[in-house]
Amino acid sequence: MIKDFNFYAPTRVVFGRNAEGKIGELVKSCNAGKVLVHYGGGSAERSGLLNVVRKQLREAGIDFIELGGVVPNPLLSKVYEGIELCRREKVDFILAVGGGSVIDSSKAIGYGVPYEGDAWDFWDGKATPQQCLPIGAVLTIPAAGSEMSSSSVITKDEGLVKRGITSDLCRCRFAVMNPERTYTLPPYQTAAGATDIMMHTMERYFTRYNEMTLTDAISEALLRTVKDAALAVMERPEDYRLRAQIMWASSLAHNDLTECGADRDFGTHRLEHELSALFGVTHGAGLAALWPSWARYVKDRHLARFVQFAVNVMGVENDFAHPDETAEKGIRAIEDFYRRIGMPTNIRELLGGRVITDEEIEVMVDKCSRGGTITVGSLEELRAEDMRRIYQMARA
Ligand code: NZQ
Ligand code: ZN
Repeated sequence: MIKDFNFYAPTRVVFGRNAEGKIGELVKSCNAGKVLVHYGGGSAERSGLLNVVRKQLREAGIDFIELGGVVPNPLLSKVYEGIELCRREKVDFILAVGGGSVIDSSKAIGYGVPYEGDAWDFWDGKATPQQCLPIGAVLTIPAAGSEMSSSSVITKDEGLVKRGITSDLCRCRFAVMNPERTYTLPPYQTAAGATDIMMHTMERYFTRYNEMTLTDAISEALLRTVKDAALAVMERPEDYRLRAQIMWASSLAHNDLTECGADRDFGTHRLEHELSALFGVTHGAGLAALWPSWARYVKDRHLARFVQFAVNVMGVENDFAHPDETAEKGIRAIEDFYRRIGMPTNIRELLGGRVITDEEIEVMVDKCSRGGTITVGSLEELRAEDMRRIYQMARA
């Protein structure tokens, strides 16, 4: 089956070595009166990128204020701080300088400023965003794909509740991407980013709609390219060619291109969000720790797809007489890939040797299934008992 679709990717991408030289004119073209420059814990200051941004805005004659301190798995408390600041200072444009966490925090502030109620209402399902301040991004880490996606994932400090919402209103007006800016990434972040990028496409590849062969071909090329570049970039972190492939893939993997005619599953993502909420782990690493278990839990009912993945993406030889073995070899091949780039393949490895308890699994199952009231995923709709089994399999 081929699913009907409505593809919308309005973000202007300015990509390359001199991309930052366009920041001033890009912000100006959005008719910004006063800008909030929003950033993370210090990497953009240390690398000199923030000074480039400041200079660009000053030279374009644009008034701006700053708010840093966004943490990975961004917090609602920082969003509230940003909303107050933007209202007080009459900010009408947000420039996110950083990765998924900073961009998601910017989107959340953008939703919150014009909304009279509590901004968390959106993530709590009590309200739907009707407006969002315009947002631009200067991307420093290819991973979450938030620079072109419609999502914003926020963690409520109280109770560590991590949730995502989607709306086209928050899509970035522009994304400035210079692969050179990613040379400073720690290897772990580079690897977790590559894992997340691949997962955004895999979540759309393992679905019930799998007859759009053009989308399959795009997805498989993207997955092979990121896999090969991730392995090579571990040895050559300042190789522009490799960094460029990974950075562009980050956007294409999550701007819905690989969903055209297909569908989205995102079950592994929903299971992961509970891990990163509870243990503060890096999202991409959490996905690596879960996906092999999810795959083994569902693969027997979707063997043809898993064989296609093993052969076309992981380079496994097709054993036509034993599709189950070919499928299993594909899962083992990705585990091997994760190990080679320093990613975990189960939760024990993710947490540095600590084994999660049954109680911790129950907390995650309860939150993920909202007390047993919802399912996640679409290839297979995972109920609370399926979630529990997958966490148990991944516990190792
Ligand atoms: O905070 P700073 O000091 O900037 O350091 C960051 C952070 O510690 C560092 N970093 C970023 N660029 C760097 C750098 N260090 C050195 N050099 C650079 N050039 O990297 C660390 C991770 O940054 P973060 O923004 O957290 O990474 P990522 O882009 O992976 O974002 C993760 C968040 O996005 C959510 C995740 O759940 C998580 O909360 N996601 C958002 C999605 C979306 N909006 O569409 C989809 C994803 O599936 C994901 O759920
Ligand atoms: Zn992700």
